Amino acid sequence: IKLLSVASEIYPLIKTGGLADVTGALPGALAGHGVAARTLVPGYPSVIAHLGKAKLVRRYDDLFGVPATILAAQVAGLDLLVLDAPDFFAREGGPYGDLGGHDWGDNWRRFAALSRAGADIAEGALKGWRPDIVHVHDWQAAMTVAYMRFGPAAAIPKLVTIHNLAFQGRFGAGIFAGLGLPAQAWGVDGVEYYGGIGYLKAGLVSADAITTVSPTYAQEIRSPVHGMGLDGLINGRVDRLHGILNGVDTNIWNPAADALIPKAYHARTLGARAANRRALERRFGLESDDAPIFIIVSRLTWQKGMDLMVDALDHLVGMGGRLAVLGSGDHALEGALLAAADRHRGRIGVQIGYDEPLSHLLQAGGDAILIPSRFEPCGLTQLYALRYGCVPVVARVGGLADTVIDANEAAVGAGAATGVMFAPGDPLALHGAINRVMDLHRDKPVWQAMQRAGMRADFSWTHSAARYAALYRSLIAEAA
Ligand code: ADP
Ligand code: GLC
Repeated sequence: IKLLSVASEIYPLIKTGGLADVTGALPGALAGHGVAARTLVPGYPSVIAHLGKAKLVRRYDDLFGVPATILAAQVAGLDLLVLDAPDFFAREGGPYGDLGGHDWGDNWRRFAALSRAGADIAEGALKGWRPDIVHVHDWQAAMTVAYMRFGPAAAIPKLVTIHNLAFQGRFGAGIFAGLGLPAQAWGVDGVEYYGGIGYLKAGLVSADAITTVSPTYAQEIRSPVHGMGLDGLINGRVDRLHGILNGVDTNIWNPAADALIPKAYHARTLGARAANRRALERRFGLESDDAPIFIIVSRLTWQKGMDLMVDALDHLVGMGGRLAVLGSGDHALEGALLAAADRHRGRIGVQIGYDEPLSHLLQAGGDAILIPSRFEPCGLTQLYALRYGCVPVVARVGGLADTVIDANEAAVGAGAATGVMFAPGDPLALHGAINRVMDLHRDKPVWQAMQRAGMRADFSWTHSAARYAALYRSLIAEAA
């Protein structure tokens, strides 16, 4: 099967979150299932810098008002197609906004251009290569399947994956004329969305199938609370909706062979984690003692429940815990965390910023990772934590609910528990979870049994890649 994937992020070239981990790992996992994936991504500076020898495979004189080319290159085992449009993508700042955190004013045009290029490839723009199926990720790529639907590649199967319904790509109705779509694309069955235009919405109505990144999130988004305005549409297409869990790239996240941590270990050599723990204490200025080290590796946002976390910090320290935080995001939350670190010197250490190697040290040296999300489509950090023997403490929501087994009496008795779960959005429940961790951690055999059960769990891409491949096959068969 020849697959065209379209996405705005891909690890290790450009990443702001879990989306990049998924688009970076899935092609390799699919190769074992007879799927050859090519991925189209924007030519951000970090992408262009990695390209090395690239081949120009398509030239545009005018793509939404700017000159552009599509470059083909192999990077880090990935078969990449890069939309090189410097006017759109060669900018200082992030993929979606400037250094000050403000979204680029022309995002509608930047990602319409990406999607237009994706649809052009489906329509045969590259000499000698056409996909059998097109799989796009999130709102930035979703318009690909809308363009396809209203053009000559309409019959090629189209799949949209929702990684996060909170980001929908909504713009004013005024851009419609600039999108280059036929008049019939306007309307509830097209790109129109509450009087404006919704890119993700347009993708969801145009796709042959919709997936999201965990079975529980696939259920949750059918309700108004988690559907964020799209629950009606999603309920109407529920026969086309699938929840497929994300996996872990075990080449990158493997405690037995991780060059980014001081000491490698596996489930039978958990004692070796002590060296990583000491390195973590030093790096975050934490006092050395037997108390558990909680860790946080996260975007600092409301979705992630970081405001609840800030409010629980005095409690955490009062109970005797320690905490190491790596994250960036909301400036108020960054400030509140730094203030807590000041207040609790030696007990709380905070590093504001984005640091991939440091995130490995946290997972390898921390005792428990805190993930108090209000909603979580899948979540990857709890999966990395499970593999690293760092016990996940998670809100019972989305993919977190699908991947962690709560340490209730029955699960502990059966040796099946892998973490601690609590009600999302509830400050007292978060306090309770912290208390439970302190108790469980004091009981060494129980704690180690939890660590080992987590490390034994298989969240590699094996199962999920097979599910995507089976879905591709059924869509191709249906279209034939
Ligand atoms: P989301 O995509 O919603 O942010 P995920 O848990 O799916 O949440 O993925 C987050 C990814 O980003 C993980 O790979 C995590 O390790 C990484 N990450 C988040 N914040 C940081 C940070 N400050 N430094 C390094 N890695 C981070
Ligand atoms: C989104 C979600 C996260 C998910 C990731 C990858 O960023 O917030 O839960 O793990 O996408 O699918």
